[in-house]
Amino acid sequence: MDRRKFVKSAAIAGAIAAVPNSVWSALSGLSGEDLEQKIKTILPQLSLDEKISLMSGVLANTAKEIATGAFRPGQGHGYTGYTVGVERLGIPRIKCLDGPRGVGFLYKTTCFPVGMARGATFDPALEEKVGAAAGYETRALGANMLLAPCINLLWHPRWGRAQETYGEDMHHLGMMGSAFTRGVQKHTMACPKHYAVNNIEDTRMNVDALVDERTLREIFLPHFQKCVEAKAASIMSAYNHLNGPKAGQNKHLIREILKQDWGFDGFVVSDWGSAMDDTVSAANAGLDLEMPSARFYGDKLKAALDAGKVPVAAIDEAVSRMLRQLFRFVGPDFDRGYSQKNIAGPEHTSLAREVAAKSMVLLKNDGKVLPLAGIKSLAVLGKLARENNLGDRGSSTVTPPYAIPILTGIKKKAGAIKVSYCSGFIPRSRMLAKNADAVVVVAGLNHKDEGEGHDRKKMSLSADQIELIKTAASANKKCAVVLIGGSAITMDGWLPDVPALLMAWYPGMEGGNAVAEILFGEVNPSGKLPIVFPKSEDQLFKFENQALKVKYQGLHGYRWLETKGLEPLFPFGFGLSYTEYQYSNLRLSDRKIGKSGKLIVSVDIANIGKVAGEEVAQMYVGYKGSRVDRPVKELKGFARVALEPGQTKTLSFELKAQELAYYNSGASAWEVEEIEYIVYIGPSSKKDELLSGAFKVEGV
Ligand code: BGC
Repeated sequence: MDRRKFVKSAAIAGAIAAVPNSVWSALSGLSGEDLEQKIKTILPQLSLDEKISLMSGVLANTAKEIATGAFRPGQGHGYTGYTVGVERLGIPRIKCLDGPRGVGFLYKTTCFPVGMARGATFDPALEEKVGAAAGYETRALGANMLLAPCINLLWHPRWGRAQETYGEDMHHLGMMGSAFTRGVQKHTMACPKHYAVNNIEDTRMNVDALVDERTLREIFLPHFQKCVEAKAASIMSAYNHLNGPKAGQNKHLIREILKQDWGFDGFVVSDWGSAMDDTVSAANAGLDLEMPSARFYGDKLKAALDAGKVPVAAIDEAVSRMLRQLFRFVGPDFDRGYSQKNIAGPEHTSLAREVAAKSMVLLKNDGKVLPLAGIKSLAVLGKLARENNLGDRGSSTVTPPYAIPILTGIKKKAGAIKVSYCSGFIPRSRMLAKNADAVVVVAGLNHKDEGEGHDRKKMSLSADQIELIKTAASANKKCAVVLIGGSAITMDGWLPDVPALLMAWYPGMEGGNAVAEILFGEVNPSGKLPIVFPKSEDQLFKFENQALKVKYQGLHGYRWLETKGLEPLFPFGFGLSYTEYQYSNLRLSDRKIGKSGKLIVSVDIANIGKVAGEEVAQMYVGYKGSRVDRPVKELKGFARVALEPGQTKTLSFELKAQELAYYNSGASAWEVEEIEYIVYIGPSSKKDELLSGAFKVEGV
């Protein structure tokens, strides 16, 4: 779906509607018990109609737009969705803008690399800055809720929205998603999405995800809980069904797990348009806000109340939850101190560039083809080198004021090096590659191959791109491929021909500059794969993106491949550098800890090469003698460390016994087993590169 088709003009005018501040200004700034008391005093001042009106958006969409998830911009509001508020009492509107790679999609905002790229930085502190920049821009545009981060784990690499999320691992997703949430919420409300088990596009509106309780709790939910612990103001429900009901009408998911077990005190908003199919079950399950307009709430909710099918308490709860977050985030000074001049200003665009450079993963570099040095001429090949390939054109679309294609970035950095270009005509490409000192082929995917509403049809590159790569590699030994895409790509038949390979993802508005910095060695690559790259699709289980019922077993990604004893093309966590690192001296603070205890795992990392770099070290844990099925090992910690040549640093990871628990569905409880655990530390999940040590959990 290309939402830009719906865009006639960027309608910023009139976007910021002032609200009277009477009651509001008296209340904002309160917290804790005082705030709860005030919410209780404000509730009776609202009529039932007002309360119900607060529970849905007011965007008038046509049926078609609702069905496609599109909305109609240029109608004077300029938001992806909004509520009316209650002017009489000064209760502000909730005003939403997408989304995961920057503020979407009409405004000239900063376009960051996609979520998957940012996942590859393994850098939560940097991700918090990205969140803060997006939060600032949201607020500067007068909106108060950013519909991001997307934290659905990548179940299968062909998921159309793979690029929006951070990867496949729950621990990693939780760290990255909560960092983004904290960043956004320095300014305004964040909305982690899509809760939960949203892993297919083709059938996203009606597929029923069948997931047993243990898999749900261990695989699909932990990262949402991390965002709740980071005090996310809202959570967006998913379109799909979960074990029967729609996810947004699933009482177990919303009322029992999110609100009761995790103590979430924000509000649950439906995904846009087709996330509900029943008024009563949605309201009783705890869905607080229907977006973008009242299809199942509004009059239907009132009728359900009149008929006694929904208690008034459910309405009061929903309204209280929204008021709580509005009080927290939308004070009388909301519009003050935020300038649209800073949107896509130098601070944010240089952050976009830093993130892009840190996200790129060097997958192969035989004969040190990269960085390109000592060359006088360079051939650049491939259509994608010249495109502004920012990623999907669905709800995550961002329209930056400018974007740097890879060819432009290379030309800017090339200096005296003569750059020639061909989009792909084979005879000319061969000739250019032959006559140049080195060749760079840019290949991969774009919004037509993968995106919201449509899954990828295959995991390999197109035949013409493969032919181009093979032509370039046979014409010139110094051949580097730069790959663009939001997920794993298989490389059958061409990878052995190519000495150097850089995964650049969809690198955002500054992407061309960042790619050039890496190719010419100004930046040392440091990204690591946040997903496993399998050799072929056959190594994975079937992607059931046409089925209306999909049963999810407990293994996916690297957990699946390792447990099945399959060697991937590139392992989870893998990424090379222009320098070399050496891991040594793994030590554990304890050999035995209690179930409520923790230990410190330390390791020394040395830069034994000639250039400075940043390394992402990873800690995994395996289980010995568990009474339940467990994967071979799971990521439990990671850290990015900067090292000068010759420098050694010690990294320490804290590991709590509680993080080793499995979910015992019979007892409805997390259980830490009294067994032996193996802890691994190293540069990726690849077994032979990991140092290991063992410890036991015993007693309390
Ligand atoms: C998407 C959401 C998005 C919403 C509003 C939906 O189609 O699934 O991720 O936030 O539209 O644009």
